[in-house]
Amino acid sequence: MRHIKPVLLLLVGMALAPAGQAARLASDAGRTLYRDGIGADRRPIAALVQGDVDSSTAALACANCHKRSGLGTSEGRNRVPPLTATALFGSSPGSGTVLPARLTPVYDDEALRRAIKLGIGADGRELSPFMPRYQLTDADAAALIAYLHTLGTANATEGASATDVNLVTIVADTAPAAEREAVVGVLSRFVAIKNSGTRRESARAAASRRQLYGERHVRGYRHWNFQVWTLTGSPETWSIQLEQRYAAAPPFAVLSGAVGDDWATLHTFCERHELPCIMPVTSVPGDAAQNHYNVYYSEGALTQARVTARDLLGDAHGSRDRLLLLHRDDKRGRAARDAFELAWRAGGGTGIRVHMTPAGTAPSIQEWRDVLKKHRPEILIAWLDPAQLGALAAAANGMEDGPRHIYTAEDFTSWQGLELPNPFGERVRHVYPYRLPAPGRAQFPREDVWLHTQKLDALARVPAAKALFACHATGEALAEMAGNYSRDYLIETLEHMLDGTNMTTLYPLTTLGTGQRFLAKGAYVARPGHGDTSGLFTEGRWVQL
Ligand code: HEC
Repeated sequence: MRHIKPVLLLLVGMALAPAGQAARLASDAGRTLYRDGIGADRRPIAALVQGDVDSSTAALACANCHKRSGLGTSEGRNRVPPLTATALFGSSPGSGTVLPARLTPVYDDEALRRAIKLGIGADGRELSPFMPRYQLTDADAAALIAYLHTLGTANATEGASATDVNLVTIVADTAPAAEREAVVGVLSRFVAIKNSGTRRESARAAASRRQLYGERHVRGYRHWNFQVWTLTGSPETWSIQLEQRYAAAPPFAVLSGAVGDDWATLHTFCERHELPCIMPVTSVPGDAAQNHYNVYYSEGALTQARVTARDLLGDAHGSRDRLLLLHRDDKRGRAARDAFELAWRAGGGTGIRVHMTPAGTAPSIQEWRDVLKKHRPEILIAWLDPAQLGALAAAANGMEDGPRHIYTAEDFTSWQGLELPNPFGERVRHVYPYRLPAPGRAQFPREDVWLHTQKLDALARVPAAKALFACHATGEALAEMAGNYSRDYLIETLEHMLDGTNMTTLYPLTTLGTGQRFLAKGAYVARPGHGDTSGLFTEGRWVQL
């Protein structure tokens, strides 16, 4: 202990542990301590730390080094050992985890307390100074140890067995039919190929599991049991449907999905069950502040709204006074408006005028003319559907002193997908999140080849490409996990794998660092080429948020 100097000594209050407290409650308290570094008294735990170890509360949480899965990391010069029940106590919890049994002596509760408080390993060796020495109350230590007895078992491995992994996708008819068909079409085919082409892997996996050091990636092989959960009725009833499905057969992860703009319900469901949800097709993701298990492509319409604000704030010539935002009065429109207003105000912008059109209505050219006359906007943000936009353009074109710029966004008007003519000519700026098309070249070459080979060309390309990437990323991550089928480890593996990834997607720039849940964090502000009114935007400036 001589290398260790005290740099953080927080007062730890009295922890009152009522006698006979249920083991489950202790383990819950232990989980909070393990994940967040918060003791039973709701205050940060304290420890003696050494050298370059960051001593902030979050850094002292065990999960910061040993990871939420408890599987640790083998990166860099400081290997952090696993703390799962199997790793510490040598017991095998069954299910998916096939971490080799400990070669060094196993821990009992007393030895574990010594390791955590004094830094002495099960074999009596002093642990490296990178492992903090914790000053825990007896109650906190007991809660933590109770939790470590469960780490990497039960819920963490739900939905995976030694031979199979259950994966579902979730759809509802609140999503456009083309999106649902693309998601279900791609996933069904991907899973069929995966399961049929791998008979040899299945046999090799079984062989490798019989020995301690089997081939790593082969060991990770599982048969994918794939199901489509189709939700019916209004979104308020989805929670009950989801719970019933989950109780009947819990999946290991949710893969892609398309339910339209109500993903928040599924987001909450996945958080509640600590169930990874991998890259659904949605424009309105759930609450970013309450998220560990939902991995998204981007914040969809919210990202596009923020990029619009950023572009406008950076436009030195623009008057910012006469800005009119038009949107539909629906979930997507309101979410985008809120995101825009926040970003706009944060950047010093003022004076936004907003005009909402009731969802599902189509104002006439005259009605649009009245709106424009009333507000006389210099900049127009038009988050409308293509038909509404057409009428608006007709109204604006006939006016003197009409808007100088018109901003549109891909999640409201997909010019390219629909191959619409662009009625605003060179005045339009279109916020576009995907790789820009180049004349004479395929926009999404890899996805196109796969879809074509599978005779799935008829599927809507953007959602199909998204579903395909979700499949590839999950497939790669599950292989990388080498048989440690833990839901937390799936999230950690995705974070690691997609950090500076060169797996191509339809997004030009994708990374997912530790703790991040959005792969793409920007969009192009694209302009039509000179004299081009085709709706094909081939030039743009990338705005990274
Ligand atoms: C700053 C990073 C860090 C944090 C935070 C951290 N550890 Fe560690 N821990 C390590 C490292 C590194 C080792 C390996 C030390 C060695 O092998 O000498 C280790 C080793 C251990 C061991 C010994 C494992 C074995 O296989 O013998 C236990 C037990 C342990 N940690 C428990 C915890 C608990 C419980 C917490 C939270 C209260 C925690 N650690 C927080 C870095 C950390």
